[in-house]
Amino acid sequence: MLGELQVLLAGRARDELDSIEKRIEPGFGWRVTTRLITNGHVDPLYGIRELPPVLIFVLSSNWAEELRVLADRPIGTRVPTVIVGPRENTQAMRMAMHGGARDYFTFPVPADDLNRVLRQIASDQLVNVRNDGTAESGPQLAVVVGAKGGAGSSVVAANLALALVVDRMSVSLLDLDLQTGSLPTLLDLNPTGGGLEEAIRRAPEIDEVAIEGYMLRHHSGLRLLSPTERAPLGYSPDPERLERILGLLKRGYERVIVDIPRQLDFSSAVALGAADRVFLILQQDVAHLREAKHFIESAAGYAGLDPKRIVAVVNRWQKRGTVSVEDVEKALGGIQVVRLPNDYERISDSVNSGIPVVEAAPKTAFGQAMKKMSRLLELESTKKPKSRLGFSLLGWNRG
Ligand SMILES: Nc1ncnc2c1ncn2[C@@H]1O[C@H](COP(=O)(O)OP(=O)(O)O)[C@@H](O)[C@H]1O
Ligand SMILES: [Mg+2]
Repeated sequence: MLGELQVLLAGRARDELDSIEKRIEPGFGWRVTTRLITNGHVDPLYGIRELPPVLIFVLSSNWAEELRVLADRPIGTRVPTVIVGPRENTQAMRMAMHGGARDYFTFPVPADDLNRVLRQIASDQLVNVRNDGTAESGPQLAVVVGAKGGAGSSVVAANLALALVVDRMSVSLLDLDLQTGSLPTLLDLNPTGGGLEEAIRRAPEIDEVAIEGYMLRHHSGLRLLSPTERAPLGYSPDPERLERILGLLKRGYERVIVDIPRQLDFSSAVALGAADRVFLILQQDVAHLREAKHFIESAAGYAGLDPKRIVAVVNRWQKRGTVSVEDVEKALGGIQVVRLPNDYERISDSVNSGIPVVEAAPKTAFGQAMKKMSRLLELESTKKPKSRLGFSLLGWNRG
């Protein structure tokens, strides 16, 4: 049922790795990869592009430095870790636990306990949010973020979510803009009933059915999880709880759209770490372009976000703008670029009425462009074939 789960077993002594590998229960679907570290790197995950779901790390005499490096990894790039370390060393144990280790063993490693913690991690993986974007279900979780405030991230998030609902998907929308969130207004919903605050408080004990109780119901079928009040300045929810909430939403819905504020914090790092796609909204000027570039660099460093998952969305696009799509592509290192037309009046109306353009005026240029954008979250195999006029999915991005 669990499929194959990779366990990375890393350390500096071959015989130690062998003795642990022998104790891992066969037939449970584990695929154990051993990594004998022989060079000067202290981080057992150094240079690994696709992070494993579980790490078992055998410390060496350099344990303090090894634990420090693991604990310093940015939130979005951490891996559930089991440490095997020196015996009767309370300092090493405490450092391991503070760094988020799931358990701490000494040699000889007790097979029963080791397998129990591995099974526990495996069952957590079922609500795990880390995704390589190539799962059978397609890109499931998308983050929408503005290069600058006012770029249009909330307008895009609301319309994108609704476009997917129109396409008969079950969709939830999560508002992580805890200070200036506007999704309830954009969808004419009244934030009541516990909301995100309560969902976060109860995150450790609720399941994907119970979380429904904290969500607002849009008449289209879309569900919105948003704060009911403005968060106190500087507040940031516990990353593990938030990670669990994202996992529950992923379990309950085919697509999850998350609107995050531009300011990178722990919450946005969790969301970015979980994202299969990131839509980076910018407007057609040099200031937005500069901020977009900065975001791509800092999200890579802070949350380990692979730029390949980012799609740049030039919002309020106008033909005679000073910055072209080619300029944007070039400046952002060749990432995919799509455009959303400028339509001030219609979007102001939709913001004021709480009826997104995709619902109020789906035939307009903005409505159509949103629909096309939503196809980037479809499964490859269900994408519409190329039109006979020769427009490809990429074609509409250009010129
Ligand atoms: N394509 C567009 N054309 C015209 N105006 C737009 C467009 N997209 C957004 N806007 C305007 O920009 C404002 C800010 O959008 P919003 O989504 O709230 O920004 P953000 O969430 O990035 O801060 C909206 O209220 C709307 O008036
Ligand atoms: Mg917003």
